[in-house]
Amino acid sequence: MNISNTKLDLDFVRSQFPSFNDPLCKNWSFFENAGGSYVPKQVIDRLNTFMISTKVQPYAEYPMSKIAGDNMDQATELFAKMINATNTEIIIGGSTSINLYVLSNALKYSLKPGDEIIVTNQDHEANISPWRRLSEIGAIIKEWKINPETAELEIETLENLLNDKTKIVAVTHCSNIVGTVNNLKKISKLAHEKNAIVIGDGVSYAPHGFPDVKELGVDFYTFSLYKTYGPHLALLYGKEEILKNLPNQNHKFLEGNYPYTINPGGPNHEELASLLGIYEYISSVFNHHFNEEITDIRQKIIKINELISEHEEKIANPILEYIKSNKILNLIGKDRIINKNRAPTISFTHKHKTSKEVSNTLISNNIATRNDNFYAWRCLNSLGISTDDGVIRVSMVHYNTVDETQKLLKALEQL
Ligand SMILES: Cc1ncc(COP(=O)(O)O)c(C=O)c1O
Repeated sequence: MNISNTKLDLDFVRSQFPSFNDPLCKNWSFFENAGGSYVPKQVIDRLNTFMISTKVQPYAEYPMSKIAGDNMDQATELFAKMINATNTEIIIGGSTSINLYVLSNALKYSLKPGDEIIVTNQDHEANISPWRRLSEIGAIIKEWKINPETAELEIETLENLLNDKTKIVAVTHCSNIVGTVNNLKKISKLAHEKNAIVIGDGVSYAPHGFPDVKELGVDFYTFSLYKTYGPHLALLYGKEEILKNLPNQNHKFLEGNYPYTINPGGPNHEELASLLGIYEYISSVFNHHFNEEITDIRQKIIKINELISEHEEKIANPILEYIKSNKILNLIGKDRIINKNRAPTISFTHKHKTSKEVSNTLISNNIATRNDNFYAWRCLNSLGISTDDGVIRVSMVHYNTVDETQKLLKALEQL
């Protein structure tokens, strides 16, 4: 937690996001951040500049091309530092779903019939389907099921599934429905004792603070950059010693040139370069709040994460408390955020109304939200919730305000 007295300055934060002044967006409280966040001006500026000045094939010697390539490399390097990885461990792909599918395709060559893969029924389908599909090559799929009472994954259940045949454990860092933060460090330790690797889905975790992938101990970790204030891309981290042994899925002559061997083709250039804007945004928030020179990028991230967590607790806990205490609403997951044990991604159902009716009531109060299964349909199924109507999900990030929380609570009262 934030041990200094510094509080997140919301006026400053929101002044960095042009959407808050946009005629279409400005009267809305945005509670659909788990679907995709707004972008700060730094990202938009980077994208604009790239398109105007450097939208040419990168890595040639003329300045427009050289700058394009330099910016793409710099963005990769900065993101590597932000999550405590090296730039040869970072792959930028079109989406998390694509990243995980491409990864499963590469990993299948190291599996033999009878090898076991553990998937959960809490994850978004993006981290389930690519692994279940490997039954086609004889892999045995085992499901780590949530406790239907709490919607949570329990470590003891995993311990009972792990054995010497387990090769892969695919698990979410934080569910996009339940919100609970799973203990990836512990999960990785248990899996590694059986020589299995861990694939962590960080999509619902990363928008609330970029993690240290080495500390988590995972072998692969992926998150969607369009939910962490960037364009529609996703990052995949992979441990170098594993990446370099994966088969080449790119052009033949690129053999041995990992990490470029993982994706069959390159990233979207302008969007990759615009990721520099995410770092510039974080730096501007850092400089606004802290009067100190820090050159270590990860240290900066740690301090920003503390500020963000404290603010997110403040805006999310009253909503959790309200839903929990309201007899006609069913809250999914923990009823309080304490020390980052939960993301401010809050799903619930109504005892007498459909999720669509409830979400429409919220929308009529200018609260941007939706009802859906959010592709976590196995999770909803196991909780006995219709995957057509789904849950109502209100998801916040650090730029949401206390006023917006009040507005949501007032709208919920109309139910
Ligand atoms: C937890 C989680 N994992 C994976 C995904 C898939 O991400 P993408 O849209 O980048 O494929 C999502 C998307 O909503 C998600 O919420």
